[in-house]
Amino acid sequence: MSEIRLQGIHKRFGGNPILADINLTIAPGEFCVFIGPSGCGKSTLLRLIAGLDDASGGELYIDGRCVNEVPPAQRDVAMVFQSYALYPHMTVYDNMAFGLRHLKLGKTEIERRVRSAAESLHLTALLDRKPGALSGGQRQRVAIGRAIVRQPKVFLFDEPLSNLDASLRVKTRVEIARLHRALGSASMVYVTHDQVEAMTLADKIVLLKPLAGQEGVPSIAQVGHPLELYHHPKNRFVAGFIGSPGMNFFPAGVSMARSDGLQCQAGSATVLAEVNAAGLVAGSAVTLGIRPEHVQVGEGSLLGRITHLEHLGEHSYAYLDSDLSPAPLVVKLTAQGAVIGDSLRFTLPADRVHVFDAADEALPRLAANLAAA
Ligand SMILES: Nc1ncnc2c1ncn2[C@@H]1O[C@H](COP(=O)(O)OP(=O)(O)O)[C@@H](O)[C@H]1O
Ligand SMILES: [Mg+2]
Repeated sequence: MSEIRLQGIHKRFGGNPILADINLTIAPGEFCVFIGPSGCGKSTLLRLIAGLDDASGGELYIDGRCVNEVPPAQRDVAMVFQSYALYPHMTVYDNMAFGLRHLKLGKTEIERRVRSAAESLHLTALLDRKPGALSGGQRQRVAIGRAIVRQPKVFLFDEPLSNLDASLRVKTRVEIARLHRALGSASMVYVTHDQVEAMTLADKIVLLKPLAGQEGVPSIAQVGHPLELYHHPKNRFVAGFIGSPGMNFFPAGVSMARSDGLQCQAGSATVLAEVNAAGLVAGSAVTLGIRPEHVQVGEGSLLGRITHLEHLGEHSYAYLDSDLSPAPLVVKLTAQGAVIGDSLRFTLPADRVHVFDAADEALPRLAANLAAA
């Protein structure tokens, strides 16, 4: 059981700020996922925790002890990388046992750990094979096994599934979730750019935003349970990053604050959003957001014409020309049979409409609505 605490962590490379003001606690046994666009510093943050790199400022605590000066080998962490560098001339068994022999563990203990890890990763039948005779997914499981046998307090994963094809990614993702349940007390910190992985695996998501050379902006855009980020994004960056296809955004002006929400004008349409608009005056420019799956299609006062369709089997996404905005509005259709050129009636449910102010910060939901969510 291990708590990881990052306090005011900064990282620069050659004067270039990469990570700024990271304050974060990862609870014992938690599955924490770092996500964000490529280059935002996910791997760098993981390497700081592993001790493979030094922070430019701030403190890192593992179980209450500041480990800034503690070398990687003494931090009790194990890291699994995207590229699983296995020893090609050694069997699966020896690849997993290798690090333990270095630790001078007894032969029986090594065998017990390797067999138990192999069992939980479905590798038992493959223990005598060499990596060349394994599939990509099997090799990645061996790399994970090599970390498990060390029985670390903390597992660090850097995009471990990125080199696998789509179906193997899903299978191995399930294995990793199972493993986390089975290991129970070990904390896992997992880096990915794949938001499905993040949504499905995480107890807690840490969404990082690229600093793009800016000073004074913290790297963390939002921390929370996956559904918290999905339903209550704090700002437009989070709203746009979480969800696929992404949230629709369109410019609007505030008409008036009502007791049941904020009334806005978007294009020639009137839209009500159940948000608290304290401080916003009529005429203020805002951005409205709604997810494709939250647009209610079938009836309503708004009208759209389908200009493009994407069929995914069980549902489709329709791109609509509408009164809301010159940009297409993407909506999810569960009914079959729509064709390009069709007109659709739809509504934007007030409890699903997000409103972002001029600084791209989300307006808070009305209190009653928040309690129900
Ligand atoms: N050793 C290094 N020296 C200089 N710049 C680096 C180094 N490692 C990473 N960077 C830069 O830091 C940024 C973050 O990198 P990284 O942590 O690998 O991002 P991510 O894993 O989120 O894609 C990138 O702009 C990268 O070019
Ligand atoms: Mg990376």
